[in-house]
Amino acid sequence: MDFGTREHLGEKNGHLIIGGADAVELARKHGTPLYVTDETRIRSNYRRFAAAFPNADVYYAAKANGHIAILRILAQEGAGADVFSDGELYAALLAGIRPDRILFNGNAKTDAELAMACETGVRVSVDSPDELRALARIASDADREVEIAFRVNPDVSPTTHPKIATGLAQSKFGIPPTQMLACYAEALSLEGVRPVGIHCHIGSQILELSPFAEMMTRMMDIVETLKNDLELELDFVDIGSGLGIPYAGTAPTPIDLANVILPIFTERAHALGICPKLVLEPGRYVVGDGAILLCAVSTVKEAHSTFVGVDAGFNLLLRPTLYESYHEVIVANKLDETPDHVYTVVGPICESGDILARDRRLPRVEKDDLIAILDTGAYGFAMSSQYNGRARASEVLVSAGEAEIIRRRETYEDLLIGQRIPPRLL
Ligand code: LLP
Repeated sequence: MDFGTREHLGEKNGHLIIGGADAVELARKHGTPLYVTDETRIRSNYRRFAAAFPNADVYYAAKANGHIAILRILAQEGAGADVFSDGELYAALLAGIRPDRILFNGNAKTDAELAMACETGVRVSVDSPDELRALARIASDADREVEIAFRVNPDVSPTTHPKIATGLAQSKFGIPPTQMLACYAEALSLEGVRPVGIHCHIGSQILELSPFAEMMTRMMDIVETLKNDLELELDFVDIGSGLGIPYAGTAPTPIDLANVILPIFTERAHALGICPKLVLEPGRYVVGDGAILLCAVSTVKEAHSTFVGVDAGFNLLLRPTLYESYHEVIVANKLDETPDHVYTVVGPICESGDILARDRRLPRVEKDDLIAILDTGAYGFAMSSQYNGRARASEVLVSAGEAEIIRRRETYEDLLIGQRIPPRLL
């Protein structure tokens, strides 16, 4: 079996091995559906990314996988964090990520979130003039000064699913470059905020490098205008992330990305006589291939197609349904058998769109076989739900062949948590 770039996966006696642990044993011991994350792989992904940008700061995008243990591992590796909500900020701080290495992003932050940013001493990426004014008021009322960046919408169009392109002109994120000068000028005039950076993020799962080069140039154009027109020298330029991973086929590496953007960044900064810090916010690259989702086959049905029905659906992995994204699917207990059948793998949710993988060539699948869905570490559990009254999966973390439970399986009580029947109905 060819696992491509996934060096942490292997095969033994026909079983899938992840991080030295036998997937069939893990499923037997912990039940299914089960998310299995390989700690070593996440560490090595992070190190590979950081090594490609030796002078930059790497802020892990907590939205990709906000599990507290993952955040802790990345805090140990020295990562900062991009957080997009009060909840992500709470978890990142709890995991030990330093506040001065956290950027609070978001296109519609509440005043309560801005107050939290102010209290915790993190930097804020401001997404609108309205937010600027609210933050300045909240910070000066608290006698604080918050360091800010503005989120630019650079109008760059990467080839990716339209739902995960974020820097298009029609996208809800960021402020057009034409308004940047006015924004920074206003920020400089306000108490409570200090503009020290600039931020953008053009989208996710991007597999070509030219949009990154275009974005970098547009960002440095703005940096130049700010220096020339406002005499403002920024401390950091945060270009978000979006580097794709090889769910199928190939993908550029962090070094490929560095080779494209670093020359633009350093040459332009040098020409301006400034040396801002470059910041990147990878999510998917760090955690994407670090986890698999194990699910058991409940039924094999020959209908107009042959369906393999498993115990995880879009409640646990939304990506195929939402973006028609491709995830490699393998029969984890039959790696040594010939893939001579074609199946569509579906979940148990009462929706026709609950299809995990279409028309895949697999060995003959039977009830109780174990299916592994690969590359589910990013935007996998993070986007899960309890739809259809389904408890969410358990999670284990594998390190040196040993697995530890990092999330217990939910119970029926968990499905009802926080709900109450008004007493008048009793
Ligand atoms: N920074 C910002 C401001 C972002 O909005 C994102 C992702 C990232 C960094 C991390 O991007 P990455 O390195 O992971 O590409 N649920 C979708 C992806 C949504 C991405 C949202 N923003 C999916 O499953 O493909």
